[in-house]
Amino acid sequence: MSATAITRLPAPWLRDNCPCADCRDPRTGQKLFQITELPGGLAVGSVREVPAAGAGGGPGWEVVWQPDGHRSVYAADWLDAHAPDDAGEGRSGHRLTGDGRTEADKELWAARDLDGRIPEAGWDAYTSSREVRERVLDGVVRLGFALLRDVPCRDRMVLDVARTFGFVRETNYGELFEVRVEAEPNNLAFTGARITPHTDNPYRDPVPTLQLLHCLRNEARGGDSGLVDGFHAAALLREREPEAFEVLTRVPVEFVFADARTELRAHRPLIGVDPLGKVREIRFNNRSIATLHRPAAVLEEFYAAYRLFAELLERPELRLDFRLAPGDCLVFDNTRLLHARTAFAESGGRHLQGAYADIDGLLSALAVLRREGARA
Ligand code: OGA
Ligand code: ZN
Ligand code: ZN
Repeated sequence: MSATAITRLPAPWLRDNCPCADCRDPRTGQKLFQITELPGGLAVGSVREVPAAGAGGGPGWEVVWQPDGHRSVYAADWLDAHAPDDAGEGRSGHRLTGDGRTEADKELWAARDLDGRIPEAGWDAYTSSREVRERVLDGVVRLGFALLRDVPCRDRMVLDVARTFGFVRETNYGELFEVRVEAEPNNLAFTGARITPHTDNPYRDPVPTLQLLHCLRNEARGGDSGLVDGFHAAALLREREPEAFEVLTRVPVEFVFADARTELRAHRPLIGVDPLGKVREIRFNNRSIATLHRPAAVLEEFYAAYRLFAELLERPELRLDFRLAPGDCLVFDNTRLLHARTAFAESGGRHLQGAYADIDGLLSALAVLRREGARA
């Protein structure tokens, strides 16, 4: 970066990033001023190279600002990493593809792609090794799920699993929910019925971004599990039926859950995209779509598109089939992966405990593990 290049940087941006102790609290790194407190007509008055800038001690640039005479010192490394280039795109251009939550930053998969490389780990290794924890959490972020094996088959253990990387999201089902045959079910999940690929709780806003399913018993005939990468299916829909894809990103769908004590509703498209059009969130649950109230023409195009997407989601080559054994705990991204199970004999013993959590907590845990790894 040259002195001339610095004078061409957007002045409010550069000043907003002044690292001095008057602008940022040195203890927390948090900003101390409001954008409205910066002088109007801000401009770089003078620039000079300095040998030692900031905490890193490397070379940098000192800027004296017009009209208020404030002095800012920027490390050259910081400018290289963060300054926009002439095209207005960040040098670290990957950041412009999204926030890490979209298809742009995921490894999309079909069942075959996971042959021999399901992200899994034993509970003991997971709890005792930083590397293993990092690998497991990275699996959830990149592939949308991970499978922990030999998790103790204890009541409420699923909550302990969630607390290894984040915070349990309590809901009207409680801190955890029992997936087993109930005498008076308020959800088809609590019967022996087949459950086709779906995301959970699309009737919540915000939706739980992570789900855990811990298998305590699975002795019933049937009750096998399936996972489908919803981002992959959405990308296939866009490639093959772009108009249907567009409809599903545009038409808000009402989802509802109601029982004696609860009535939850949310309105969201089946495929959520970010401002750049990248797939960021799938909500798909045939059990909980409400009666839609839209103009007839919209309903026609919505139902045609919904059906095409559902057909893709049912393709066996997209679905990873497996069977949960006692001690298995599945952790997955409920905004991306769809999960399913086959029907099972209600007379047989099958019992899972499920819980919800959120991915911001998991991403934080992973970032801290990586920091620790970098220091080690
Ligand atoms: C659920 C669910 C799957 C299963 O409870 O949300 O989809 O394997 N259960 O029973
Ligand atoms: Zn400052
Ligand atoms: Zn479910």
